[in-house]
Amino acid sequence: MNDIIIGDCIDILKRAKREYIDLVLTDSPYNAGYDFDNDSMSRDEFLSFTRRWISEVVPTLKKTGVLCCFINEDYLFDFHAILKERLIFQRLVTWHFEPYPRCVDDTIDNRAEYILVFSRSDTFTFNVIREEPSSTTYDRWIEYVDEQGNIPYDSLTPSLKKRYKRENYERNPINIYRGSPQGNVIFCRRVKDNDEEAKYGRHPTQKPEPLLDKFVKMYTNVGDIVLDPFAGSGSTLVVAKKDRRRFVGVEASQEYAAVAKKRLADVNLTDRL
Ligand SMILES: C[S@@+](CC[C@H](N)C(=O)[O-])C[C@H]1O[C@@H](n2cnc3c(N)ncnc32)[C@H](O)[C@@H]1O
Repeated sequence: MNDIIIGDCIDILKRAKREYIDLVLTDSPYNAGYDFDNDSMSRDEFLSFTRRWISEVVPTLKKTGVLCCFINEDYLFDFHAILKERLIFQRLVTWHFEPYPRCVDDTIDNRAEYILVFSRSDTFTFNVIREEPSSTTYDRWIEYVDEQGNIPYDSLTPSLKKRYKRENYERNPINIYRGSPQGNVIFCRRVKDNDEEAKYGRHPTQKPEPLLDKFVKMYTNVGDIVLDPFAGSGSTLVVAKKDRRRFVGVEASQEYAAVAKKRLADVNLTDRL
């Protein structure tokens, strides 16, 4: 616990304790040709590998556990279908980032990757994160709010009225001053070589801490256990440690695991995201 294991996650997960993990937050290989294990396979081989790690990771999740998995557009629909065989779909989140410096102009520029959120059952932790309303949200909401900044029940859409009884809604109405709940498109810039989080060397597909932080905070509580079976440079684990969650990671490469260990050793108990 609270460490990274070097090895093949499929082998390690086979021997792992069952129904133990609160959140699997992982960025498995995308088969995009990077120079690390399982990133340059035929499509069939890659999907078979994906099925294998998913079938080993699911039993480690508690019945109330959640799995969040990064993927790009090439394999999004395959991942969705494979995960749906074993888990319950909750959300597709789009990670929107800045243009690549070397973007080419012969197609629509890719500015997004995706995070699939699945749960083992209908019961799981969800802590709402609120976003400050942008000026466009504010402009839209101002048409509806009352003097206290609340959106009145009568102006809800028919589908929201079906979901909420008037008396329940009126106890905790949408309020412009509290901001809106985290949406399913998150802008976060990608990690750069000279960022603090890359000071021991940037992993070629390193994920930004502020983005991972949102998933850890939404889907776990302090003391819960977060697993990343493809830990890379340890970004998920570092965030879990900063957020006072317990964590365990697996990484095949000694080199990246060494970076993860250095990053984890740097986290002080006073650090917070
Ligand atoms: C997409 S990267 C993860 C990067 C990570 N999110 C970060 O921020 O550093 C996937 C990682 O999985 C590792 N990997 C590939 N196959 C593996 C396996 N079977 N078991 C454990 N790790 C594996 C690769 O070495 C690579 O570092």
